[in-house]
Amino acid sequence: MRIDVVSLFPEFIAQCAGFGVVGRAQERALLSLHGWNPRDYAEGGYRRVDDRPFGGGPGMVMMIEPLQACLAATRAADPVVGPVIYLTPQGTPLTQAKVRQLAALPRLILLCGRYEGVDERLVAAEVDEEISIGDYVLSGGELGAAVVIDAVARLQEGALNDAESAIQDSFESDGLLDCPHYTHPASHALGEVPAVLRSGDHAAIARWRRQQALGRTWLRRPDLLDEASLSKADRALLEAFRRDSLPPSGEGGA
Ligand code: ADE
Repeated sequence: MRIDVVSLFPEFIAQCAGFGVVGRAQERALLSLHGWNPRDYAEGGYRRVDDRPFGGGPGMVMMIEPLQACLAATRAADPVVGPVIYLTPQGTPLTQAKVRQLAALPRLILLCGRYEGVDERLVAAEVDEEISIGDYVLSGGELGAAVVIDAVARLQEGALNDAESAIQDSFESDGLLDCPHYTHPASHALGEVPAVLRSGDHAAIARWRRQQALGRTWLRRPDLLDEASLSKADRALLEAFRRDSLPPSGEGGA
């Protein structure tokens, strides 16, 4: 997969993407990343890329011309076609389902805004999709681009050493949160590893993990449970989890 990033700070993206799974995906040629700086396509001695907003108000707006020229050069660098995705808090919230869709494409062009954003005419003419990584405002789209790159890189075939781990992660198993994980030592001042995980009973372990995933989702993200398709066995596991987490009868509650 090829990802092009249009940003005033292309080095930032290169740095972010140089480590761990994303770095390895690049080394294994599963991902090729290319940075493009709109300033290189700006006219004049100052290579200006932003200007004051019409109508007044604080901040600056990224101008059409340097971004348009930069995007044209980006597209021309490879005949493979991919959507232009603008990272902005006004975009559609990123989900694992969206990540899966993007990861299956041969190319993405990520457009990072700075300042107050990008001239809306450029967005209307050149952008296929707007994505937000959450309901908060960052000082630019670069961190959003880094998040998209990380999330899609780890889904490339061969990027993870243990392909299972992607499937078992949060949101990959039916949109539920992940179960808790433990490693050695089994006994520690901070607590014991649950006995079932040391039992060697694989069916019981799978059941416990599923129940923990269901229970955690119920406790922390009940909105996700509404979307998940639960089997009869899942419902029974969740019911038992709920019962166990209720205070003993007579204490509190109505
Ligand atoms: N740029 C600024 N804030 C952002 C956000 N929340 N998501 C994506 N891009 C952004």
